[in-house]
Amino acid sequence: MNRFLNVGFLGAMLLAGRAAPALQAQTGQDAWLRYAALETVARAKYQTLPAAVVVPEGSALLTSARDEMVRGFIGMVGRNLRLDENVKEKAIILGTINAIQRIVPGFESPKPLAGDGFLVASRRVHGFDCIVITSTTERGVLYGVFAFLSKMARGENVAALDQVSQPLVSIRWADEWDNLNGTIERGYAGPSIFFENGSVRGDLTRAGQYARLLASVGIDGCTINNVNADRRILDDSFIPQLARIADVFRPWGVRLAVSVDLSSPKTSGGLDTFDPLDPRVVEWWKAKVDTIYRQIPDFGGFVVKADSEGRAGPSSYGRTPADAANVIARALRPHGGVLFYRAFVYDHHLDWRNPKNDRARAAYDIFHPLDGKFDDNVIIQIKYGPIDFQAREPVSPLFGGLEKTNQGIELQITQEYTGQQRHLCFLPPMWKEMLDFDLRVNGGATPVKDLVAGKTFHRPVGAFVGVANVGMDANWLGHPLAMANLYGFGRLAWDPNLSAETIAEEWTRLTFGNDAAVVKTITRLQMASWHAYESYTGPLGAQTLTDILGSHYGPGIESSERNGWGQWHRADHDGIGMDRSMATGTGFVGQYPVDVQRVYESEKTTPDDLLLFFHHVPYTYVLHSGKTVIQHIYDSHYEGAAEAADFVRQWKSLQHSIDDQRYAAVLARLEYQAGHAIVWRDAICNWFFRTSGIADDKGRVGNHPDRVEAEAMQLQGFVPIDVEPWENASAGRAIECMKATGCTATFRFDRAPGQYEIDVQYFDQNNGASKFRVWVGDKEVDEWIANDHLPATKPGGDSSTRHTIPALTLHPGDEIRIEGVPDGEEHAPLDYIELHAVSE
Ligand code: GCU
Repeated sequence: MNRFLNVGFLGAMLLAGRAAPALQAQTGQDAWLRYAALETVARAKYQTLPAAVVVPEGSALLTSARDEMVRGFIGMVGRNLRLDENVKEKAIILGTINAIQRIVPGFESPKPLAGDGFLVASRRVHGFDCIVITSTTERGVLYGVFAFLSKMARGENVAALDQVSQPLVSIRWADEWDNLNGTIERGYAGPSIFFENGSVRGDLTRAGQYARLLASVGIDGCTINNVNADRRILDDSFIPQLARIADVFRPWGVRLAVSVDLSSPKTSGGLDTFDPLDPRVVEWWKAKVDTIYRQIPDFGGFVVKADSEGRAGPSSYGRTPADAANVIARALRPHGGVLFYRAFVYDHHLDWRNPKNDRARAAYDIFHPLDGKFDDNVIIQIKYGPIDFQAREPVSPLFGGLEKTNQGIELQITQEYTGQQRHLCFLPPMWKEMLDFDLRVNGGATPVKDLVAGKTFHRPVGAFVGVANVGMDANWLGHPLAMANLYGFGRLAWDPNLSAETIAEEWTRLTFGNDAAVVKTITRLQMASWHAYESYTGPLGAQTLTDILGSHYGPGIESSERNGWGQWHRADHDGIGMDRSMATGTGFVGQYPVDVQRVYESEKTTPDDLLLFFHHVPYTYVLHSGKTVIQHIYDSHYEGAAEAADFVRQWKSLQHSIDDQRYAAVLARLEYQAGHAIVWRDAICNWFFRTSGIADDKGRVGNHPDRVEAEAMQLQGFVPIDVEPWENASAGRAIECMKATGCTATFRFDRAPGQYEIDVQYFDQNNGASKFRVWVGDKEVDEWIANDHLPATKPGGDSSTRHTIPALTLHPGDEIRIEGVPDGEEHAPLDYIELHAVSE
């Protein structure tokens, strides 16, 4: 018996037989690593592959690599690979280049291998046709195995390979914003996989499974706690708990890292200061880091958020971010650890009355003057845009402002401002625009991807960080299609030159199989989704127009105005947009290199989709498209909402090509999204109509002939209420039932006889589960419970939800009655119903 054989695992796999049939219910837990049984043609193609796997040397990582290969073969082609340490037949050989060269003297890679890059090659070894998967590191061998299995799962040719794949970015980490109490800041898929009740979870199975997923797309580090760090994370008594997480990460080559609070030496270390230049503080960090490395020798490092959104920082002692970063980095350096210092530093008490104030300026103003002052194991972690993960921002000018300092890009996989995994929003197309953007530093071609990879200025490291916030929900991110964002992040971190479409297609094949219609439809949906989301939320660079003071989810147009947070868009009766020009505005444009300044300085040359980010213009301003700004706002919202409705139709075409469980889960989210897109559309269009006084050329805005407002129905028990802000309910009003036994709202159908679909717009708060029933005459036609967990405790843009009653035959004079029974703090709030004639 081979000494590395994991009998338990293999036994279980064999007993389970071949992978489940493709259409069996799937929870999404295996994500893109399902290894589902391949269809006959693809299986036939792989019949000639070796039946043995040879691993000449052993280690935890290589065991993972080998077991993964075995698992993939059993699942996809129903074959159990024989395990060996020597080549005695055709074999797949897994090992570091040194090990391979020992058994195949003179073995060479066609291109140089470095770091975690890998080679997959068909070679004759000892007279047998073998497949060699190798790298300079064991982690790279594991990555090669995942890449090979991915090709098989996608039905690609794996014969006669001689391919080197080299990551373009040296540090590729996922960040999780988990709190020690088990909640997750901006997490939308259940509680933490790492923590509960103030401690590390007893059962870390999910954490291990997550590390496998991360490794499969080349992510080699994971910061497990909120950037708003709990200082207990560094307590000596907590470190052994962290070590347990590192233990389950290690077999997958994922290094553990944590976010730390800069004030820790004082708040939990017993010192009376956290001044980074105080020798006692220097010593404290050194001792703390040494303690960590004694227990976690492969510890990755720290992430620091300081002087930002109320966090303690070096400014308390008149010190700079470089002073703070270097002290901690010097403690990490002897152990090979790195320090990510976040550039997300800004004053959230800005005076909005001062037209020169601009939060967008902050990162560059603070960090550019410090260029060259940071140690070589410090990485400045820069959000892609100068504000905060909005659906549309220009790239941060700071990427072009650091030539002598390492930098990394921070992307957000968790959809904080892009629909919170209730809306489909595939982000790689946006990330690609950011990464491909040419900042023209010093007048040359300097795309962001080269700057953050460290290539442009020959920095020792470059980095990609993705804020993922996976949770205990079986499918990790809540929406079954949202995992394409995690997959896409990993793929782009490895190779930022991949296209978003390639990524979407790869992910779809791995997650749903190779059926042509499935691949085409899901890829198309993913590729259309960001643009659709932007269209029905905040177009033209006005940013998301969401409730920035609360959930960051539904519409909240004025929430960003007239407060210190600086996410202003400055919309008034005459116009909209922030003047960030050098000539008349905040001067933010001046932070870009000259070639880019030339594009953004004038509204004439600024692309339409960023116009309102850079300029304040009247609503009648004519865009490059030939439309006025106001008409664009109306049109894009109607088009975006129509597109979201069409997503439902497209998805329904896949009903029998996808397992029922995932089909139904996605359908429910897409139907919800289509309804919420209308909430967004109406809120934005009505608000701008009222504010600008300019009508929609197409007569749609404020004109809903199919709608019956709840407050206009005949009410028994229900009482009308004003919804705040007014634009988040139709006509600004709704009704609520204050009677425990329930209330009714009734109206008479007065349109032509025929088939009608009835949309009921109600509010689903998270503090109750009201019941709704609908009758036509004496016949009950539908009932449901408002028990979703939307981020809302009152009627408004976050809770507004649509329920569609399938087509019914209606006659003039029919009485339609809606009954609402309240529950808890939720008073069966109802907004309106809409009747849509269905053509037969
Ligand atoms: C956003 C987010 C916060 C987070 C912050 C950050 O503002 O809403 O929850 O703490 O970003 O990235 O630090």
